[in-house]
Amino acid sequence: MSVDLEKILRPVDTPMKPYEPKYMLLASGEAVVVRQVERDEIPDLLKHVEPLLHVERDFYDVVAARVYSELLAHYRHRYQDQYVLAVQIDGELAAIVNGRQVTPKLGMSLHTLALRRGLRVGAHAFAAKMEYHIDTLGHDEVLIVAESPIGFRRWMIEYKLEKRFDIPHELGGVPSWALTRELFDRARSSLVVGRRPVPDELLDKAMAAILPPSDPPTPPLDPLAATRSMYDPTATSLMAQRWEMEGRSADA
Ligand SMILES: CC(C)(COP(=O)(O)OP(=O)(O)OC[C@H]1O[C@@H](n2cnc3c(N)ncnc32)[C@H](O)[C@@H]1OP(=O)(O)O)[C@@H](O)C(=O)NCCC(=O)NCCS
Repeated sequence: MSVDLEKILRPVDTPMKPYEPKYMLLASGEAVVVRQVERDEIPDLLKHVEPLLHVERDFYDVVAARVYSELLAHYRHRYQDQYVLAVQIDGELAAIVNGRQVTPKLGMSLHTLALRRGLRVGAHAFAAKMEYHIDTLGHDEVLIVAESPIGFRRWMIEYKLEKRFDIPHELGGVPSWALTRELFDRARSSLVVGRRPVPDELLDKAMAAILPPSDPPTPPLDPLAATRSMYDPTATSLMAQRWEMEGRSADA
């Protein structure tokens, strides 16, 4: 009985061509490898996504919660046609991207999560997934949304994405944007970098293990600091709240 039910609950994935790994040099001089993550490696990613649930800054919390849910559901066979790519520096996890195929001609971008900041690893990871959708899977269009202002700058503005506001995106039902094949071709020379094949030594290191990120985003000591910096730079309301809790008045 339970075996039969599992046959109904478990989606049957559409066969998708694998992502061919690539490598590139970052501005820091470090070599990075972008490669596909297999289902059995998902737990190695989840443990590094979980701490980001508590990082409010730059919407890491929202994105990490969604990525965690998508990866877990993929691992437990509860997500249709999802792929996951990882960016690794010397084996160390630097970024995660995922997405899925909706139809043989339409891709759905899910998320991009950078675990090393300031090196454009997130931007390179996003470019790699667009390359996978358009060049490998043969999609004509990829539907995209941004949860954060940095994401909006990186995708909507840098790629000059087209509006598809009549299509609710799978991420929260918000209006979609689209990367078309034509837009991707225009961005190729400036935004899409990397070489193939990856030298054996680099690829072996990346495949051997997903090592923990050495400098991931961390929550602020004061959990409200991120909100405070966005809406209340002088922290007046926070101080007022504290004074109230301590039984002092705000104008003390
Ligand atoms: C969006 C994202 C993937 C972009 O990654 P990225 O291309 O590697 O870029 P970074 O996040 O490191 O840097 C973005 C900007 O913030 C600045 N920055 C912010 N925090 C930084 C830090 N701790 N160190 C260095 N730079 C930092 C960078 O200088 C950079 O400025 P620039 O746009 O002028 O180059 C990444 O910011 C991220 O994972 N954000 C949280 C989740 C998210 O929003 N995902 C996208 C959903 S649409």
